Amino acid sequence: MIETAKARILVTRKLPPAVETRLGQSFTSTFNPDDTLPTSESLAQMSAGYDALLVCSTEKLGKEVIDALPDTIRIIATFSVGTDHIDIAAAAARGIVVTNTPDVLTDATADIAMLLMLGAARGAYDGERTVREDRWDVWCATHPLGVQVTGKTVGILGMGRIGRAFAKRARGFDMKILYHGRNRLDPSLENGEEFDENLDDMLARSDFLSIHCASTPTTRGLINATSIAKLPDGAVIVNTARGDIIDDDALISALKSGKLAAAGLDVFNNEPNIDPRYRELENVFLLPHLGSATIETRDAMGFRAIDNLEAFFSGGIPRDIVSA
Ligand code: DGY
Repeated sequence: MIETAKARILVTRKLPPAVETRLGQSFTSTFNPDDTLPTSESLAQMSAGYDALLVCSTEKLGKEVIDALPDTIRIIATFSVGTDHIDIAAAAARGIVVTNTPDVLTDATADIAMLLMLGAARGAYDGERTVREDRWDVWCATHPLGVQVTGKTVGILGMGRIGRAFAKRARGFDMKILYHGRNRLDPSLENGEEFDENLDDMLARSDFLSIHCASTPTTRGLINATSIAKLPDGAVIVNTARGDIIDDDALISALKSGKLAAAGLDVFNNEPNIDPRYRELENVFLLPHLGSATIETRDAMGFRAIDNLEAFFSGGIPRDIVSA
């Protein structure tokens, strides 16, 4: 076993100062002070001489990259709850442990989902721009008009930790809450929400749809032309989970036709090179993947990743092992 302080950790992106300080104290860490984005092709080569990688969701560790990692790499700790950027099965096949950072970003992400829901429904993008660009000439009774959130029905796709935290916030807006996921929640976790086993049934009743499920082969492209057609006319979609759950062509066409009133998006296919058509739409409220972006949360994510690395290198079992 390697003594914890001697474990050589390659930290692939620049992390918050408090996190880097603790990493420096706990391990033999190499940082990326310029925050240069490592390419997938360079990752295996960069990993030579290290025992562990501390990566972010920007590093794509597909099977080819995992297979090319040096034998010295025994654990990959990702500074994210999502693990869709890592081929977990390929890592398991090589005996490499993968850990993530659940729980600590739940509240920050649920907060951003509320911001997106309100921002999209109330036309925050257009309103803010009107004031900023000095185009606000007179208050009008008839425009611009948004969609009321309070008292409406929201369908939550994926009722895990973040979905439940979002539901808690939506209750504060007197919303009726429906949810769909693989399974009904344990009754002790339900708080008046209605489970819809059938996604289409939930969609048909949802004025708002908030996406909180993980990106998996089952959920990728789940929100497409067929599922969007099931939503009531004038519905609003919010996505803080992963961009690939939505089919961009379908969403953009529904936003253009008026089938959907608006969308609030924090995550996209092919970030940061998103479908440029989103930038031209007035009825979208767009953020650059800020779900977990608070000082408190990013520190907590880093500390959680360090806890996992410390547990591993001291011979224990990291609490957040992700299984294939
Ligand atoms: C996560 O933790 O998965 C966030 O989306 C940041 O990548």
